[in-house]
Amino acid sequence: MNIPFLRPTIKEEDIEAVNEVLRGGWLVLQKNTDAFEQQFSSYLGCRDAVLTNSCTCAIHLALIMLDVKEGDEVIVPALTYVSSVNPILHCGASPVFVDVEDESGLIDLDLVEAAITPKTVGIIPVHIYGQMIDMKRIKSIADSHGLFIIEDAAHAVESERDGIQPGANSFAAAFSFHVAKNITAGTGGALAINDSLVADRARVLRRDGVRNVGNIRIMEELGHKYLATDFQAAMLSSQLSRIEEQWKKRKQIYDRYAEAFSLAGIKFNPVLPNSKHAYHMIVVYADPEKRDTVRNTLGTNGIQTSVHYNPVTLEPFYREKFGFKKGDFPVAEHLGTSCITLPLYPLLSSGEQEYIIEKVCENI
Ligand SMILES: Cc1ncc(COP(=O)(O)O)c(C=O)c1O
Repeated sequence: MNIPFLRPTIKEEDIEAVNEVLRGGWLVLQKNTDAFEQQFSSYLGCRDAVLTNSCTCAIHLALIMLDVKEGDEVIVPALTYVSSVNPILHCGASPVFVDVEDESGLIDLDLVEAAITPKTVGIIPVHIYGQMIDMKRIKSIADSHGLFIIEDAAHAVESERDGIQPGANSFAAAFSFHVAKNITAGTGGALAINDSLVADRARVLRRDGVRNVGNIRIMEELGHKYLATDFQAAMLSSQLSRIEEQWKKRKQIYDRYAEAFSLAGIKFNPVLPNSKHAYHMIVVYADPEKRDTVRNTLGTNGIQTSVHYNPVTLEPFYREKFGFKKGDFPVAEHLGTSCITLPLYPLLSSGEQEYIIEKVCENI
């Protein structure tokens, strides 16, 4: 067996959609971008969506629009990918890390309040692995302190919690269409926004701060080159139109893993109450002392795995910059040193999955 960690589902119809744009001539900010933005916002049930070239850029744009600057603090979970946090530093502000819950890996809302200081301006919760934070609770914490919320919804296109989708209860939600994500354009991202004026500004900021007025370009403010192309948009529209079908396959695979690992007494991240999981990732937990050996053994058996995540606070850059040490964020560190992310994608065959289950149960 040779089972890669990733195998994106790119169908002929996606390739054809890209080819059509390539044959059409003008490759950026054309009708496919508009069409995807409309399709994506209507899928999410929010007013508007703005396509960008990554989730990282989308988070950065949201922070810029909220005027986040030097001296400000933004609360983030210790367990996430670095790009949930890097944009805060790009604005000159400081991240304030908060530990996560053991069961879900989501930011621990019991600890958020204690991390709020007079300098805190907002919170960036991360809907890790495809499960949403309790948006009602975090919104009430944020509102009572006058803080913004930017959701890192990189893993959460299909997610819901208490009937709430990403983007509904926050300033904005940032999505990723990186190659590992449930829909992908290789790289890409979007901001879901409920305010038309904010969305309009995001469109200007993603294009160097430039707006078309009649047939001339006017630079209104300092922006960034954060555009995605029309062929990326076409590829995403094509995938979004079959997202439910793909999600059902992911669910089936997740459910089989959950059944097998529950029986074997192997810890994994379970589905939370009142939640629609996007089934972006499944993580199993090994003894931290044995984790790397287990991964190597799975690797020699042809099963490629990954780690989501080494806590940001233990990344060399963040350690050096903020002086973090082992033990500062015990739950994030425990999850980070014990987790193994397994292949989970619609193209995984049931034979491959049973083989993975067998090898995980044998070796963990
Ligand atoms: C939780 C999380 N946030 C943000 C990102 C950044 O996404 P992008 O690569 O689209 O910038 C990722 C990407 O892996 C992620 O996993």
